Amino acid sequence: MTRVWAENFDEWRKTARNLLAVGQTPEEVYWEQNDFESLFAHVESLPPAAAPPTKVPADFVSLASRVACHRDPEKWSLLYRALWRLSHGQPHLLKMATDPLTHRLRRMDGEIRRDAHKTKAFVRFRLLQENDEDHYIAWHRPDHKVLPLVAGFFQRRFAVMKWSIVTPDQSLAWDGEALQWGPGLPASEVAHEDKFEDVWRTYYRATFNPARIKIKMMKQEMPVRHWATLPEARIIPDLLSEAETRVETMIGAMEGDRETAEDYLPPVADYPSLRSAAASCRACGLCGPATQTVFGEGNLSARIMLVGEQPGDEEDLRGRPFIGAAGQLLMELLEKAGLPRDELYVTNAVKHFRFVQRGKKRIHQPPDARNIIACKPWLQTEIRLIQPQVIVALGATAGRALVHHGFALKHDQHKDLFFDGIPIYATWHPSAALRATQPQPRADIEYHISETLRRALKFR
Ligand code: URA
Ligand code: SF4
Repeated sequence: MTRVWAENFDEWRKTARNLLAVGQTPEEVYWEQNDFESLFAHVESLPPAAAPPTKVPADFVSLASRVACHRDPEKWSLLYRALWRLSHGQPHLLKMATDPLTHRLRRMDGEIRRDAHKTKAFVRFRLLQENDEDHYIAWHRPDHKVLPLVAGFFQRRFAVMKWSIVTPDQSLAWDGEALQWGPGLPASEVAHEDKFEDVWRTYYRATFNPARIKIKMMKQEMPVRHWATLPEARIIPDLLSEAETRVETMIGAMEGDRETAEDYLPPVADYPSLRSAAASCRACGLCGPATQTVFGEGNLSARIMLVGEQPGDEEDLRGRPFIGAAGQLLMELLEKAGLPRDELYVTNAVKHFRFVQRGKKRIHQPPDARNIIACKPWLQTEIRLIQPQVIVALGATAGRALVHHGFALKHDQHKDLFFDGIPIYATWHPSAALRATQPQPRADIEYHISETLRRALKFR
């Protein structure tokens, strides 16, 4: 039995790779379950990796990095069991929803995602002013150790401010240039919210002192609750004032400015849950002015999936994709190609209508890169659930969402394109034909679309 231990995802990954490389089965490995306490004595040094790192699906890596934040001490051994099976004849383990291990990991993942989402929404900063500088501090107790998962979000969101977020497990500080990790602060230390400000001085010193204390060592040597009594912790006593100030504006600004719809995905993604979760997505600014989310629709066992850009004016009002002018043209072209709509699943890269108001008119605006990225989790999950054999990308936005951000039809149309292994056939958006002022380009565009749809027929 090999005894090993990991404190975070990177450590788990390194160790797990080595174990895998030397062929240690999950049954032969004991992952220490205690967190952090002086366990080093038990940890065996592993033989160096004998084989190159195993390729595992990107899906698994991102799932594992989230599950690594779970409080369940069994997470490391569960993840290693999954890794073992993925690399020993079950590369599709994560698609086997009824497999008990997959089921358990997915459930843990859902809990983590919800917790990360709550952390983003509920962290409350208070302002401390020091030497004419503003520092924002927050104490928050997430259910799991999700701080690493939301660090990037807070860094981008509050890039120009100095802030610290302290949780029972760890703390994170941003000084305008770099993120710094520090120790956590047990809830018992901040029984009263106001006390947090006192205790925080310790953190301030620990995380910002240039001659920074080796936090891990310090934590091992001395429980955090004793820090406050250290002589060197009695610092900056007079600088902390106006501690009551709540920074609601910072929090207000967070709403509608999350980078990705990922936080809004349902923990268990079956089609009805996905669809209803999308209805309340507020991940990007587009949900504000638009009427409603326009989700995809059609045959859930479709072998052919069409992806457009975003709902237009009429789609926005009626809540269904491709029912306006572009949709009607699309129907004609489908008919010409011999493809009945009820055999298809039809959706858009972006699920809210982007427009500018001019008088009474709402003028269509193409979604930008941020909108496309923000909305991609919906599209990606739709594709995973429908599992089409081919995807027809209508227009540049669909190409950008499915292929790459620099997608351009004229450069990319003759390449073999794929999304998650599914072939992509790229063509014009029907509204390009509607916009064409001359008959010839319009006919060419329509021909290109019909031909692409006809090529897709072989996947029927
Ligand atoms: N254009 C699109 O891309 N999608 C629609 O649903 C309508 C028009
Ligand atoms: Fe969410 Fe997409 Fe709508 Fe943005 S456009 S709010 S990501 S559904």
